[in-house]
Amino acid sequence: AADPRLQGISDAIRVVPHFPKQGIMFNDITTLLLRPRVFKDAVDLFVERYRGMGIDAVAGIEARGFVFGPAIALAIGAKFIPLRKPRKLPESCADTGSRKQLLLLLLEGEVISEKYVLEYGTDCLEMRVGAIERSGERVLVIDDLVATGGTLCAAIRLLERAGADVVECACVIGLPKFKDLYKLNGKPVYVLVESR
Ligand code: PRP
Repeated sequence: AADPRLQGISDAIRVVPHFPKQGIMFNDITTLLLRPRVFKDAVDLFVERYRGMGIDAVAGIEARGFVFGPAIALAIGAKFIPLRKPRKLPESCADTGSRKQLLLLLLEGEVISEKYVLEYGTDCLEMRVGAIERSGERVLVIDDLVATGGTLCAAIRLLERAGADVVECACVIGLPKFKDLYKLNGKPVYVLVESR
């Protein structure tokens, strides 16, 4: 039987027709965030699934992956890595310190990016390479919603380029096709509820 908390989560998401464009049903999670018990249920469901799996990092996708990701990361004892929209992350500035410090700063401050296709046009995600501190770190990717999966695919490519082992992607809301562990780039996608 389905976990009874899932119905509460589904009910707390507001569906807005024709936003941001004609024909698009927008799933608004801000109504869920206003109900602390339901918000906690969503975080707890992820924590129950990923605790004890040796996850080193939770990578959250800007902007709404930043709402759920840090709470999950703290609860499972993982670090949080923000995957950002373009031109938000500073590149390293090489001006002070020893040569060794300078080299470290350059390496850790290096920003890599991955473009992806949206319904209209393209977007891009960026991360600091140094956020993955050793190759093979086990990473969980978090976002609020998966539709085409283009955003999650870009996140997977970015993390793998930095040397991470992406264990799974998890979203609060998914299209029905993502039910029962749909795979993207060979990586499983776990969703709590279906979009309405
Ligand atoms: C939404 C959502 C996901 C993405 C899913 O973000 O929060 O990140 O779309 O779509 P996909 O599976 O088809 O790639 P959006 O691109 O609207 O950006 P925002 O968070 O900056 O508003």
